[in-house]
Amino acid sequence: MDTKKDPFQNLQERMRNALADHSIRAFQELSSSTRDLMSCYRCAIMEIETKFRVLNERFSLQHDRNPIDSIQSRLKSPDSILDKMLRKKLPFTLEAIENNIFDIAGIRVVCSFVDDIYMLADCLLQQDDITLIERKDYIKNPKKNGYRSLHLIIEVPIFLQNEKKIMKAEVQLRTIAMEFWANLEHQLRYKKDLSPELMEQTSYQLSECARLSAVLDEQMQAIRDIIEKEEDSSEK
Ligand code: GTP
Ligand code: MG
Repeated sequence: MDTKKDPFQNLQERMRNALADHSIRAFQELSSSTRDLMSCYRCAIMEIETKFRVLNERFSLQHDRNPIDSIQSRLKSPDSILDKMLRKKLPFTLEAIENNIFDIAGIRVVCSFVDDIYMLADCLLQQDDITLIERKDYIKNPKKNGYRSLHLIIEVPIFLQNEKKIMKAEVQLRTIAMEFWANLEHQLRYKKDLSPELMEQTSYQLSECARLSAVLDEQMQAIRDIIEKEEDSSEK
């Protein structure tokens, strides 16, 4: 029996092992830093949610009503992050994610009235640890399909064991009526097999619904203004 091993086979084996070992290690390193980054985004969500809860608490103490109806937060799924990286032709690195995808941490604040949206946005942006990166006002300038909301991309610091990290997040502020419309429109948009005629007709109907929801917001705001004016004059 030949006990001598083929030196090349040995080398090949060692190379294969080294490669496998290296890629496993590289994979492990990447997956642990991805987990770390995602945890930082979760911390950013907690910070921002708390800021809104505090504002709601203080406002309700002073004015006896809640400007915030609900807060929903989400961390973008790995699938959606990957989709966006492909769409934006980004390199597959964590730096590229951090520097180019600003809606990994998403906080949606559903407000009672339109002016609560602007009041809350102003209060948030006045805080000295918050930096505004981008503001899109789809309430003053609704999208073509009728979509309305105020979008803010902000930076917020998070304080970890030994470091402070600045994280980006997307805040969407909208009323209950805007939320109602956006949720249903989102559901309907995923019906893909509509004919062009039906698409045109439903787009028109959807934008009509958006217009009606805006009228609803205006009227509810007007009713509240009347009631508050009355309350103010009876207090004097
Ligand atoms: P992406 O962030 O890549 O989607 O593009 P963008 O930055 O141009 O988007 P934008 O800031 O305008 O909107 C981002 C988010 O707002 C989306 O992920 C949705 O949550 C919401 N949104 C924007 N437009 C619509 C719309 O027409 N209908 C609904 N239902 N939601 C919308
Ligand atoms: Mg966006």
